[in-house]
Amino acid sequence: MSELRIENVWKEYGDQIVLEDVSLTVASRAFVALVGPSGCGKSTFLRMLLGQEQPTRGQILLDGELLPAEPGPDRGVVFQRYSVFPHLTVLGNVLLGKEFSGARHKAKLFGAARRNAIAEARQLIGEVGLAGAEDKYPAQLSGGMQQRLALAQALIMKPKVLLLDEPFGALDPGIRAEIHTLMKRLWNETQMTVVMVTHDMREAFTLASRVIAFERRRDRPEEKERYGATITKDISIWPPRLAGAPSIFSPDRDGPVVPMGHRRDDLASSGEIQP
Ligand SMILES: Nc1ncnc2c1ncn2[C@@H]1O[C@H](COP(=O)(O)OP(=O)(O)OP(=O)(O)O)[C@@H](O)[C@H]1O
Ligand SMILES: [Mg+2]
Repeated sequence: MSELRIENVWKEYGDQIVLEDVSLTVASRAFVALVGPSGCGKSTFLRMLLGQEQPTRGQILLDGELLPAEPGPDRGVVFQRYSVFPHLTVLGNVLLGKEFSGARHKAKLFGAARRNAIAEARQLIGEVGLAGAEDKYPAQLSGGMQQRLALAQALIMKPKVLLLDEPFGALDPGIRAEIHTLMKRLWNETQMTVVMVTHDMREAFTLASRVIAFERRRDRPEEKERYGATITKDISIWPPRLAGAPSIFSPDRDGPVVPMGHRRDDLASSGEIQP
């Protein structure tokens, strides 16, 4: 399971109130798109879900437990740019999380553990469409390939929650459509809950099961610092997904495994899979 509960969360920087009394329950396996004007606090909100920032008031719970005060392997993240390490190859980037989590004293795996991690990383690299690029460095990849790599890097840790901050914003439309298809497939095949910030309404309504808008209710210049943004719209796109799809990434995750209804049809209509 991976339910997020955001309870009366405020975020203030000094005198500036960025977010004001945000309450939201994100169901396990939902795909939430977060939209809103520039500067309204979307990235700040995402950083709080990641554990990089703490709410000034209120609390955030993941599966009923207070979110740890720092980023952890249960939350993966992809930013618009610079999510991957330039000095590591594709394979090195995907392996990195495993090396840090698997080896206690040194960030290095040995023997069978390393072989297994490499096999898993190679499979995932294939899943995101980067097979053959294992030994390339990020600078040798296109923007779309780099974002695929960033996804693989986040997914190898099988996060409960995947946080995306305008991950496809810098890609041109053709590449973006391709990566949307990939993103949908990954979401269907894993158990994770996704929260994605985007400026692109079309992207929000194409990918998400729920679209949330943050806005300041009062936006007069003299009030800007005193009132934060909060949820002003909450739109369900599809009924919440209750059942899990057979998973290629996380067979060990809990949750029922039954074929899915309309989500699969949706993929079928995009030509991704046969109905
Ligand atoms: N570390 C920080 N210290 C002080 N103020 C901050 C900090 N981080 C963000 N802010 C302020 O919080 C507000 C919200 O910023 P945030 O980056 O969350 O907006 P956003 O909705 O993601 O905007 P954009 O759509 O442009 O990415 C801004 O006014 C910003 O200046
Ligand atoms: Mg932002």
